[in-house]
Amino acid sequence: MTRLTVNDRPVEFAMDPRTPLLWALRDAANLTGTKYGCGVGDCGACTVMVDGAALRSCLITLAECEGRFVVTIEGLSHDRSHPVQQAMVAEQAIQCGFCTPGIVMSAAALLAHNASPSEAEIKAAIPNLCRCGVYARLVGAVQRAAAVARREDTISAAPAPGIAPEDAARAVPALKR
Ligand code: FES
Ligand code: FES
Repeated sequence: MTRLTVNDRPVEFAMDPRTPLLWALRDAANLTGTKYGCGVGDCGACTVMVDGAALRSCLITLAECEGRFVVTIEGLSHDRSHPVQQAMVAEQAIQCGFCTPGIVMSAAALLAHNASPSEAEIKAAIPNLCRCGVYARLVGAVQRAAAVARREDTISAAPAPGIAPEDAARAVPALKR
């Protein structure tokens, strides 16, 4: 039995302790927001936070997570209101979305330790692969998220093309100063 805290809840995994955290989260905890891409640490789709650091969950075992605090995309916010989530939508830094949870977790971990990251720091902290190519908008989205977190910017619920205003309002609640 491996005991750890996942999204603020104590969890006991009755699995082989050599199981990668990725599969414990997806198959046992049903936290399927964490994606499987390459399985060898290259793509970053499986990124979660472990004790506040962005780590590839395909590369760490349950045993290595004993007693540690894991946050997945499901636990980052309960209403998609984390500044990174809001900014990614507002800046349209998402296409197919498969890589997005890992990128969001990498960005959130960065902003937790660096309130005003430079472009170089963002690129270094988010080496995640995205086949759709959102890179051009990603730096701007993370810098906007940082500004929102510093309360120097707000994001309104402007509807994205093809999304009804009422749906957009539910998906992207406005942050107030
Ligand atoms: S699935 Fe973990 S880095 Fe690609
Ligand atoms: S948004 Fe499609 S792979 Fe990243």
